[in-house]
Amino acid sequence: MKIKRISTGVKGLDEMVGGGFPYPSVALVAGGAGTGKTTFAMSFLTEGAENGEQGLFFTTLSEPTQWMLRYASQFDFINKDFFGDEIRYEDIGLLLQQEGYEELINHIDDKIAEIMPQRIVIDPITVVKDFYSEEYRTFLFELINLLKNWKAVTLLTGEVAPDEPYPSQVTYAVDTVILLNMIEEEGSRRKYLEVLKMRGTDHTTGKQPVSITTSDGVVVLKSRF
Ligand SMILES: Nc1ncnc2c1ncn2[C@@H]1O[C@H](COP(=O)(O)OP(=O)(O)OP(=O)(O)O)[C@@H](O)[C@H]1O
Ligand SMILES: [Mg+2]
Repeated sequence: MKIKRISTGVKGLDEMVGGGFPYPSVALVAGGAGTGKTTFAMSFLTEGAENGEQGLFFTTLSEPTQWMLRYASQFDFINKDFFGDEIRYEDIGLLLQQEGYEELINHIDDKIAEIMPQRIVIDPITVVKDFYSEEYRTFLFELINLLKNWKAVTLLTGEVAPDEPYPSQVTYAVDTVILLNMIEEEGSRRKYLEVLKMRGTDHTTGKQPVSITTSDGVVVLKSRF
């Protein structure tokens, strides 16, 4: 049986992964600071909105909608009219700081049930570790199981420290892991993308060069890294 897939929304990536993300599934986009994780997530939601799919963006950082709109205005590919409608924006930062992990999971589940999105983003998921230290693993396990029961593709973003290849606690539970990173070479930083895993998919392996542009956001280049 052929797996249903939806486009990632990132130029040059669908060709690497057999057409897109398996639908439904849970993916992790991990990388260091400023490697393009949020931009990747916005391409993913914009692609859906343009195809009539509902999007839901959870921020864990307590950033107000205004902040997201200002961020979005840097890029031509993001249509700001989608915000609040085709792309719903939900701040779960305060809940994360004040409540236990079970309340947070219930809240996420309730929001998904209310909005019924086909595309979900939680940006970034790794910050949760600072609040639920002991229970972080249990939280991730329960959250990812919950997300797998919805007819949606969820994209979690993960911050990684410079000495860490990827957030290992998240990677084992998700279907897809995509790394965004950069290498410093002769004084300049070269950005790359690597598909670490995508279940049920014969995907391209190895580092592919990427650029981040005002017009298209994250773009996977055809050249060799
Ligand atoms: N308009 C633009 N044109 C080209 N590149 C841009 C533009 N805006 C941002 N960038 C690049 O994108 C990077 C930020 O992307 P983004 O915010 O998606 O990264 P991130 O991985 O989410 O970062 P953080 O770790 O801060 O959450 C910047 O560091 C810069 O290199
Ligand atoms: Mg970000």
